[in-house]
Amino acid sequence: MIDLNEHNITGEVIRRWDGCADARFKELMAGLIRHLHDFAREVKLTEVEWMAGIQFLTAVGHKCDGLRQEFILLSDTLGLSQLVVAQNHSRAAGATEQTVFGPFWVEGAPHLAHGADIANGAVGAPCHVRLTINDLRSRPVPDATVDVWHADAEGGYDVQSPGWSMAQAKMRAVFKTDARGSLHFWTVLPAAYPVPTDGPVGDMLRASHRHAMRPGHLHAMVHKPGFDTLITHVYVQGDEYLDSDAVFGVRGSCIGEYVRHEPGKAPDGTVKDTAFFTLDQTLSLAPA
Ligand code: BEZ
Ligand code: FE
Repeated sequence: MIDLNEHNITGEVIRRWDGCADARFKELMAGLIRHLHDFAREVKLTEVEWMAGIQFLTAVGHKCDGLRQEFILLSDTLGLSQLVVAQNHSRAAGATEQTVFGPFWVEGAPHLAHGADIANGAVGAPCHVRLTINDLRSRPVPDATVDVWHADAEGGYDVQSPGWSMAQAKMRAVFKTDARGSLHFWTVLPAAYPVPTDGPVGDMLRASHRHAMRPGHLHAMVHKPGFDTLITHVYVQGDEYLDSDAVFGVRGSCIGEYVRHEPGKAPDGTVKDTAFFTLDQTLSLAPA
């Protein structure tokens, strides 16, 4: 028997995984234990502080349900989600960068025809969006499946309405690209919005004097066999939160120009009697 102390306990804890048959699980656990122990030693963690940490993690768990995932929000606001995304999708030159997925995508959005208005009554200035999906040699990628979703002018997603079901879908849809790798639709201009702050992650942000805002953006998820599935955003150029996104998701290759137009003819030929915006953005896929 050895006398364990704060210096030699780490090796002994890691040795308890010696019999583990799953090499990757063993590696993950050894790394986790080493860094947890180093963290406690480095900051000289006290018992009162660790109990506060346990109570915080317990509150994070209690906040989770079928529609709310406070652990993902914690991972996002600690920058861990974006770190994991970045290191698993190192960007081929010219490829659009991957960003965090976020909690507001819902499976089963309506498959719509090009030109559809996906706003479905959502508040905001009309915005015509054209997305073109290319490969790294600027060749169009036809027949790609493109999921889009975003928030309205007040920063709300449809799923945040009480009692929401897909029958009331707004600002979300699935499209297929045409022979030119393109698709287009009408919606409303996405606005900046705060990540949910009514749970323990909100308490953490307030205690840190951090704001909770994300810059306005459109989410896009592009699937096409033979390519790395792209999960990205198109951020609104000029948004005041581009440099301080609460979840660290902004990438230079993901900023789009949402151009304001006076009333008149839109790119799809329709005539608008109010001012409107247009976005014409190319997303470039890396090979799988
Ligand atoms: C979002 O963009 O939808 C999002 C991402 C991370 C946390 C909260 C929201
Ligand atoms: Fe979002």
